[in-house]
Amino acid sequence: MSKDKLMKIAVKVNGVLREAQVEPRTTLVDFLRDTLLLTGTHIGCEHGVCSVLLDGDPVRSCCMFAVQADALSVTTVEGLAPERGQLSKIQDAFCEKHALQCGYCTPGMLIACHALVARNPHPDEAAIREAISGNLCRCTGYQQIVDAVKHATAPKDGSHG
Ligand code: FES
Ligand code: FES
Repeated sequence: MSKDKLMKIAVKVNGVLREAQVEPRTTLVDFLRDTLLLTGTHIGCEHGVCSVLLDGDPVRSCCMFAVQADALSVTTVEGLAPERGQLSKIQDAFCEKHALQCGYCTPGMLIACHALVARNPHPDEAAIREAISGNLCRCTGYQQIVDAVKHATAPKDGSHG
């Protein structure tokens, strides 16, 4: 594509401002994976695998263009951990409760679960199921994912709100 057809965007990704020239047709997931090399966001299902947070809300990054994220903030699975080499509470609970098998859906599931907990720190089972209902998992049967979120978010007195 000729250079004059490229569009300049500036997107804050995982807290870092990233500027790039992209084709208008470039999807957000292709921008994240191919330009920024953030390959934790998976693609290929049409059922939520490619979820990222856009200004805090979960979106399907295959269903929007990178230019639509200009001047906004994106969090990918790489940005969920508090520090490099650490896991978030929910990531840790996914390991603890065996909430993944092949792992293909896991980045999108983690994004959906983090978005839920950001707005509802102690979700009940129905809220967890609703939050992940747009994400397909071929392996786990979902119960372990629900268990992991409950484990990570249980109030200290053990009750669920
Ligand atoms: S690749 Fe985007 S919804 Fe599955
Ligand atoms: S762990 Fe395999 S698709 Fe969910």
